[in-house]
Amino acid sequence: MLNMRYRNLCSTSFSFLLIPANVRLRRCFCFMIIDGKSIAQNLRSSLRIKVEEYKKHGMRVPTLRVILVGDNPASLSYVNGKLKAAAEIGIDSRLLHLSSDCSESELLLLIEKLNQNTDIDGILVQLPLPSHINEQKLLRSINPQKDVDGFHPENVAKLWLGESCIKPCTPLGILALLDNCNIEIEGKEAVIVGRSNIVGKPLAKMLLDRNATVTIAHSHTPNLHLVTSRADILITAVGSPHLITADYVKDNAVVIDVGISRLPDGHLTGDVDFEEVKNKVSYITPVPGGVGPLTIAMLMQNTIDCYMLHNNKNTYNL
Ligand code: GUN
Repeated sequence: MLNMRYRNLCSTSFSFLLIPANVRLRRCFCFMIIDGKSIAQNLRSSLRIKVEEYKKHGMRVPTLRVILVGDNPASLSYVNGKLKAAAEIGIDSRLLHLSSDCSESELLLLIEKLNQNTDIDGILVQLPLPSHINEQKLLRSINPQKDVDGFHPENVAKLWLGESCIKPCTPLGILALLDNCNIEIEGKEAVIVGRSNIVGKPLAKMLLDRNATVTIAHSHTPNLHLVTSRADILITAVGSPHLITADYVKDNAVVIDVGISRLPDGHLTGDVDFEEVKNKVSYITPVPGGVGPLTIAMLMQNTIDCYMLHNNKNTYNL
């Protein structure tokens, strides 16, 4: 059963090479593409069943409010993906769309109203915000128990102290991908490229908690390729198209690409040169269709966790 599921979600590709009989095969020339879309679809289906159960028991459905300031096309697209997933699962979600010139105090007032409303479980402010708004001040204003992104300082501190808390969605999604493919984390050398508050830093702590040896590399790391090529599990989250080429990757590594950039021809691409790197690795995520769908699925999971918390059932997604 487990095996079948695994086969469904990771597609195998073989590189067929003509290898002379006298050359010893020193590594496996095959790689698995981790199918984030299917893994996320399975998670969403199980969440939809949960929400149906709540309804059957006469409970209200979980609720999510998404605040978007301005018309950044990438943010609009992300927000639409979140609302679509919420609708599929049966979460009552609404977009609160404000103009790019709305004031900080207007936003703080809106968040305070949502904080006070006991029918609202989750509040998400889509980032980035226009430069006249203090992002940290805004994130701090969200009730930590409604902070579905896990960005409030109280949740960040609890994560680092090892206490129950709401955790950021992208790192949760990356762990879900690894677990779904039965990729061992304990004792492995994990290298993360990128030190953002959204991905790199929380992911480092979450991998440490799974007993990986973790390195965070960044734009000032000298000889980046020497650091990344130590990794059994390489995660890159910098938004720098094709930064990671074959010489940055160890044979048979697991490569998780969080970066997403739009090329001048309109195509989306990751931080990894997929075509070059895929032949060297054991597992690799595509862009799009890798980590992105999992981030959204984990947001849905966090919304349901907040809902359970408000219904006095302590079920954080630990
Ligand atoms: N912008 C880019 N990623 C995220 C995210 O995970 N949450 C929010 N709120 N904004 C983002």
